Amino acid sequence: MTPPLQARTVPDIVTAPPGPKARAHIEFDHAWTSPSLPRAYPIVPVRGLGCAVEDIDGNVFLDFAAGIAVNSTGHSHPEVVAAIQRQAAELQHFSASDFYLPIYAEAAAELARIAPMRGPNRAFIGNSGAEAVEAGIKLAKYHTKRQNLVAFLGGFHGRTMGAVSLTASKAKYHAHFGPLLPGVYHVPFGNEGLDELERRVFKRLMPGDEFAAVIVEPIQGEGGYVVPEDDFLPRLRELCDRHGILLIADEVQSGAGRTGKMWAIQHWDVEPDIVLTAKGIGSGMPVGAMVARSDLMTWGPGAHGSTYGGNPVALAALLATIGLLEGGLIANAAIRGRELLDALRPLVARHPDLVKDVRGKGLMIGVQFDSGDTAEAVQMQAFDRGLLVLEAGDDCVRMSPPLVVSQAEAATAVRIFTEAVEAVAAHRPEAVAAVEQADERGLAVQGVEAGG
Ligand SMILES: Cc1ncc(COP(=O)(O)O)c(C=O)c1O
Repeated sequence: MTPPLQARTVPDIVTAPPGPKARAHIEFDHAWTSPSLPRAYPIVPVRGLGCAVEDIDGNVFLDFAAGIAVNSTGHSHPEVVAAIQRQAAELQHFSASDFYLPIYAEAAAELARIAPMRGPNRAFIGNSGAEAVEAGIKLAKYHTKRQNLVAFLGGFHGRTMGAVSLTASKAKYHAHFGPLLPGVYHVPFGNEGLDELERRVFKRLMPGDEFAAVIVEPIQGEGGYVVPEDDFLPRLRELCDRHGILLIADEVQSGAGRTGKMWAIQHWDVEPDIVLTAKGIGSGMPVGAMVARSDLMTWGPGAHGSTYGGNPVALAALLATIGLLEGGLIANAAIRGRELLDALRPLVARHPDLVKDVRGKGLMIGVQFDSGDTAEAVQMQAFDRGLLVLEAGDDCVRMSPPLVVSQAEAATAVRIFTEAVEAVAAHRPEAVAAVEQADERGLAVQGVEAGG
């Protein structure tokens, strides 16, 4: 009999991971699944509760990756589970695109209420972040009758054809998929990019009034948890207004309370025209949304829709999640985030050759290393000790725990992460070689690979 997760110590490594069952499963997986999946390290999860995840061999991990910043309310939060079970027993599907699904309008009204625009707002609900991005691109083009788009280098917006055309975090995401969406212009993230837009793009390549939208992650996610200069987003807002360009905030990763405010853009008091959400807003159920000011929603019936978008079970999770976020989890994210940043920052002074920066807001924390090899070695050392974190960008490790994380869990994460850094500092060649050996055995993938 396996003891319930709440009775276990977290973390608790009983068999060096990947254990025998995990190895057997990974072999099975490799035979059947698409080789395009990046796979950061060999965890095979079977149960989760709060910030704890148990793998197939009975190891318990402290989850500071949260399924790529998704499990905002923790694994299997009882209120979210109850909402899902209730809705699943009542009505599992009835396409909201073609009919009037009550919970869809209710969720849209909630999303409109919490959006970072004064409103009135409306929402289109889909199944994922990429779908929210596609909806944003389509609405911006439809409403402005302009074709061109601006996105930022280092940005990640998803992998469907429109979204991947905006994505510019790794060149391999574009390889063999061209031609991509035409009329997408990329500039550096931050003030340098704004100067480049005005001086190079609008002056020499395409006038500003030919652009439908600028899409921006207020804090870059997959690009390495990059926080821009404080005047960047206000300046971007002003630039968009000057040229009649819509500002789309992609808050798929940074939203849903993760940074200590409902939306990261609210740290800079900037209102976008359109906000995109997914990941944490559904606590792990597949849901994403594009919320726009009502006056921009000028498209008519048939211009956009989705069979499953706004599935009632996913929306039950979304409504429960919003309640929990506003009921204390956003506040907890702010407090725990400050504690984590304060506790991790000394690593820069302690290991100046290795740790280059510790940054972030709330529970969106990035630690930058001297190289991708070091970041990957630290990630693997943390994994071996029972702490799940995830690589990002060229040389970063991101921490994005569930917003339910406690003070004690945060302290445990700092302790283990520090041990992982120290282990890599003491035995760097061996630690990097261990990652390479794992790669060769097909248990992880070489290079900083985690995507999303
Ligand atoms: C900022 C951002 N936008 C969009 C996406 C795409 O979301 P999904 O993987 O749900 O399609 C991601 C995924 O990581 C993201 O981080």
